[in-house]
Amino acid sequence: MPDTAMPSQSLPALPTGLLDALSGILGTRGVVTDLRDLEPHLSDWRGLYRGASPALIRPATTAELSACMRLLNAADVPVVPQGGNTSMVGGAMPDESGRQVIVSLSRMNRIRDLDPVDMTMVTEAGVILKTAQDAAAAAGCLFPLSLGAEGTATIGGVLATNAGGNTTVRYGNARDLMLGLEVVLPDGSVIEGLRRLRKDNTGYALRHLFVGAEGTLGFITAAVLRLFPRARSEATALCAVADEDAALALFRRFRDRDESAIRAFEYMSGQGMGFVLRHIEGAALPLAEPAEHYVLIDLASSRPDADLRGLLEAVLEGALEAGEVLDAALAESEAQRAALWRLREEHPEAQKREGASVKNDVSVPVSKVPELIRRSSEALRELIPGSRPVPFGHMGDGNIHMNLEQPEGMAPTDFLARSHEIMEAVNDVVRDLGGSFSAEHGVGRLKPDMLAAWRGGAELATMQAIKRALDPKGLMNPGKVLPA
Ligand code: FAD
Ligand code: MLT
Ligand code: ZN
Repeated sequence: MPDTAMPSQSLPALPTGLLDALSGILGTRGVVTDLRDLEPHLSDWRGLYRGASPALIRPATTAELSACMRLLNAADVPVVPQGGNTSMVGGAMPDESGRQVIVSLSRMNRIRDLDPVDMTMVTEAGVILKTAQDAAAAAGCLFPLSLGAEGTATIGGVLATNAGGNTTVRYGNARDLMLGLEVVLPDGSVIEGLRRLRKDNTGYALRHLFVGAEGTLGFITAAVLRLFPRARSEATALCAVADEDAALALFRRFRDRDESAIRAFEYMSGQGMGFVLRHIEGAALPLAEPAEHYVLIDLASSRPDADLRGLLEAVLEGALEAGEVLDAALAESEAQRAALWRLREEHPEAQKREGASVKNDVSVPVSKVPELIRRSSEALRELIPGSRPVPFGHMGDGNIHMNLEQPEGMAPTDFLARSHEIMEAVNDVVRDLGGSFSAEHGVGRLKPDMLAAWRGGAELATMQAIKRALDPKGLMNPGKVLPA
């Protein structure tokens, strides 16, 4: 169960002289101890955790971080990497001990290189995801990773969590977009792995260890990212569909017709759409009537002459005739396209404004998505009468956010006190369908017990052995991912 708010901290001291030594390396700009400046770094986006910390350090270079880690490691000081602090699982939160130093790479925000021939971009970890997308676009290329938090999340954070998002169905997760990494290990040594090679079979692929490790093995300080040709043709539609099976059938229609055209295929429920329309200023449904189920389809091609509009219309026509699609709105302009996407992207914010909610970021084989939505919704309604299931997300990846909103009028704390039961009710269905308890948000501080239950035996033992090998003192992001 998530922790509730803690009283505000008193400032505990770091070992004598350590702060001075850190300031000596980083300058005064690089060491933050003022409580007001620390404040935004001590709670998470969901409001599940509130931590305490003696200091936040902000190295501006890999060498500075390396020197700091040598000192901190020698002094047995635990550290917590923090990027944009948009983690959904408390991954970037220090605990309440007041001992853990927060390390932000926000000053490491340079794009070191962009090569449109190799189609690669070398960015430092503190670069905001949206900035990386914009830099690629300015060079006539595409960096395709896209998620609701892209204006805040950092390259270090998206790699450390192996973030997914809206375009995974076409381009893969963050891991698939990474060719090389530079990493500072807990003892301060540096792995210089910024190779921009498409093929490199030279021993263990260490770079992949750090992607998805959620900052428990080392700091990602820079990365070589893959670029793609930019889209020159696009077509987007919002559809009301008959039910969950119809949503899947529509996905198959597009896949069978031209899989390469699908850039995103997102499912939304009538419940979630209702929250967006209620809470998000300017949100409007471009369909004749509200529905119980929606799908957002986004098609894109790098060919300027690709007839995606024709493709969209042809597939939707067949689906309308078959009764799968009830109504559809096709974007006629970039502004309309953005408005359709906003209905999807504002789901997390709208859910937050509606009240307390519990997130279940799960995945199942794509064929099982309708069953996942139906069975989990039923289980959740039975568990907490009056509660409101809000399934939405990346249907084309089999990744549905099986979130649950509190019953109207229930005290949020009473609802959140049942978080564990709620997550387990969904997990029971997910397990039965051969899925995973976390598709993209990761394990963080919220779910190490689930990792132990789901990935026990040799799998967990191997993870623990890797952790011991790289971080024998257990100082990198303690309490995250692996069970105590
Ligand atoms: P943080 O939250 O700061 O940190 C996340 C984890 O990475 C922590 O464990 C932290 O210790 C570690 N870390 C951070 N930087 C580094 C580094 N340089 N080196 C090593 N470890 C590091 N996620 C998705 O996958 N798909 C989505 O569609 C999606 N949508 C979202 C929508 C909203 C509105 C919000 C608020 C979040 C969403 N997320 C989504 C979750 C979140 O944005 C991602 O997990 C993102 O990758 C976190 O990036 P960050 O920079 O904010 O990292
Ligand atoms: C999203 O895809 O919008 C987020 O990952 C889902 C969530 O907030 O639960
Ligand atoms: Zn998501």
